[in-house]
Amino acid sequence: MQDQATPTAPRRFAALVMIYAIALVACDENVPQGAAENLGGNPRHGAALINQFGCGACHTIPGVAGAGGLVGPPLTGIAQRVYLAGVLRNSPENMSAWLQDPQQFVPGNAMPRMDISPSDARDLTAFLYTLR
Ligand code: HEC
Repeated sequence: MQDQATPTAPRRFAALVMIYAIALVACDENVPQGAAENLGGNPRHGAALINQFGCGACHTIPGVAGAGGLVGPPLTGIAQRVYLAGVLRNSPENMSAWLQDPQQFVPGNAMPRMDISPSDARDLTAFLYTLR
């Protein structure tokens, strides 16, 4: 009886490792679902819009050629920032709202209203949320 119990131990251990791995993958899937929720925007189009609107003139943006501006804060890791401009809780909705009208939230700050459409704001937000 003892002889039979011994060979099953490694198999049991392997099964535990598998369960642990599956649990890890499951958790991993849950975290980005909430955090990367981007209102259905298209991050690739968002990256193109960064160039179109000239955000890089004022912001340093990792992965965007020529985006080395120092007027506003660097957008490095912006997806993980807790507040936008120190006043707005960082969420996809608030990010879109900020991009469409930064003057509404911090009157007089250097980021202008650029007449960004809601759809373009969603795409920009989707791109910005890739910056972790
Ligand atoms: C003329 C300069 C200028 C331009 C152009 C500009 N910004 Fe800004 N941006 C700023 C400044 C200045 C702030 C800081 C505002 C504050 O904190 O009151 C800011 C803040 C931000 C923030 C919040 C950053 C943080 O750390 O909280 C985001 C996100 C942002 N800008 C994205 C963009 C995007 C995307 C574009 C292009 C569509 C853009 N900005 C264009 C100047 C600019």
